[in-house]
Amino acid sequence: MCGIVGYTGNNSALSPVIEGLRKLEYRGYDSAGIALPIAIGKPLFIEKRAGKLKKLEDALAKTPDAKSGIGHTRWATHGGPTDTNAHPHLDNEGKLALIHNGIIENYVQLRSQLEKRGHKFKSETDTESVVHLLSDARKENNGDLAAAMRQVCQQLKGSFTLLAIHSDNPSHIVGARRNSPLVVGVGNGENFLASDVAAFIAHTKTALELGQDEVVEITPTSVVVTNLSGQVVKPNQFEISWDAKAAERGGFSHFMLKEIYEQPKAIADTLLGRLDGLDVKIKFKKFEKIVIIACGTAYNAGLVGKYAIEKWGQIPVDVELASEYRYREPSLDKKTLVIPISQSGETMDTLMALRYAKSMGATIFSVCNTNGSTIGRESDAVLYTHAGPEIAVASTKAFATQLIAMYLIGLEIGRQLEHLNSKKCKEIIKELTQLPAKVEQVLETVEPLRELTRKFKSADSVLFLGRYTGYPTVLEGALKLKELAYMHAEGFAGGELKHGPIALIDNGTPVVAIMPTKDSVLAGKMASNIQEVKARGAVVIAISEDEFAGADHLIRIPKVDPLLQPVLAVVPLQVIAYEMAVARGNDVDQPRNLAKSVTVE
Ligand code: M6R
Repeated sequence: MCGIVGYTGNNSALSPVIEGLRKLEYRGYDSAGIALPIAIGKPLFIEKRAGKLKKLEDALAKTPDAKSGIGHTRWATHGGPTDTNAHPHLDNEGKLALIHNGIIENYVQLRSQLEKRGHKFKSETDTESVVHLLSDARKENNGDLAAAMRQVCQQLKGSFTLLAIHSDNPSHIVGARRNSPLVVGVGNGENFLASDVAAFIAHTKTALELGQDEVVEITPTSVVVTNLSGQVVKPNQFEISWDAKAAERGGFSHFMLKEIYEQPKAIADTLLGRLDGLDVKIKFKKFEKIVIIACGTAYNAGLVGKYAIEKWGQIPVDVELASEYRYREPSLDKKTLVIPISQSGETMDTLMALRYAKSMGATIFSVCNTNGSTIGRESDAVLYTHAGPEIAVASTKAFATQLIAMYLIGLEIGRQLEHLNSKKCKEIIKELTQLPAKVEQVLETVEPLRELTRKFKSADSVLFLGRYTGYPTVLEGALKLKELAYMHAEGFAGGELKHGPIALIDNGTPVVAIMPTKDSVLAGKMASNIQEVKARGAVVIAISEDEFAGADHLIRIPKVDPLLQPVLAVVPLQVIAYEMAVARGNDVDQPRNLAKSVTVE
């Protein structure tokens, strides 16, 4: 939920730290700060500002030079978004600075013990206790910051990525992680620490994964990783395939718009080399049931996944909100395959549900977009989506590729369990192969929708209707509109309307409906649902493969297998949400109160 960057090298640290923070601003953007050791043994240079990173950058106009530094962009949990609560936090001498992502659950006890020992606190954060603890531990360990970090981590409860720097040893940065992400970027005469590789891909493509409860020390020429007992650990090295340009906005006004337009490529990349068999080997025959666990958009992709896996693979699938799952102590065992879906691979709710499932003996086969992420690392197998870096908080191309991953899994299960013969497999493969071009076609026709959307910018509420795979699709459409336009929006299964939600329809209520293909039995039923809302004053925008006269506005999409329709039908819904946010003057890429990677429960 917060973004963390550390740099040590031969160049000025300010620019890589600020550039890195810009790439990580999606993780939190209510305040930002930086610490630079400008003179050995003297207080650190610190600047922190509430508000977007820009505020910090403006305040840094006359910053002294330093060859190392740490920076932080915050999503507030403990203490409001103020200058004082912004990170870094300092020890009483101002020579030790610490930044943190996560939550220290025992900070209240720690703080009261530290206050009794004479430590003075300035902020309301949980983090500040850690810097004071670290300061004492460093003294006890004769100035060895890494030893102090190992000692402190053993006293902490909760989740954390921590980075610390001390002015006595300015080129040396120490990091630690538990349940929150931290990766090392290995450069030439310079090294990086960050929450996500996006922060340093402009400088190096070589990265190291850090395991749970590991401490890392970097200098310009060395990286040493130890466990909490101080034993040296060999981290897993990987090369980052993402292009540095992919994390730039290109000519687009917002990352979200760019990412909407990147969907054809993301889909093609995710399909590549997998249509005749997955690149991950799993024997699906040994499982009696599948449980998909995910949050938000990934959950909606999981709902579509259920339809595909059950139809093609004939295995029962439950789709569970990861945040709820483990608390009801569900029954599962080694005959259960659990599929966590996560773009970031760091969502705490999903990670905790994964760990619960693992402890019950289930096999974990995750679908992730981010290489080296915790969920991927803790799974028995991973199917990576190839969406590339998704920077906008609202997920678009990640959703499209999660759908593709679900279809690929359904196809593979159908094949292995012999529920799909080779003719049917070929038909599905053909349809999947055509998806990038069809999404391209949808993108070419959405322009009128942008103008139409603006007409509804003052609506109190927008409702979305769908049936079959159109239902999870409208849930995703409503989620997008809520998070971006800050409007009341809800998605309903068309048949459910009459059981209550129809009372929401008022004169002029915009209703966006996804029409099932005209060959489906559901087409007529959906047409009736549309008549029902129109009769009560709704203005209906229909998204349809076929001509349809029953709506006020019609958006045509290409014909496709009904199971795959969400890949096409969601695109106009993404455009509606995007356009509505712009029309209402909202920050599209960084909507209020949100963060892209939710690493707290
Ligand atoms: O990184 P994850 O896929 O695990 O994230 C899950 C949700 O937080 C995420 O999909 C969220 O709902 C999106 N920002 C919605 O656009």
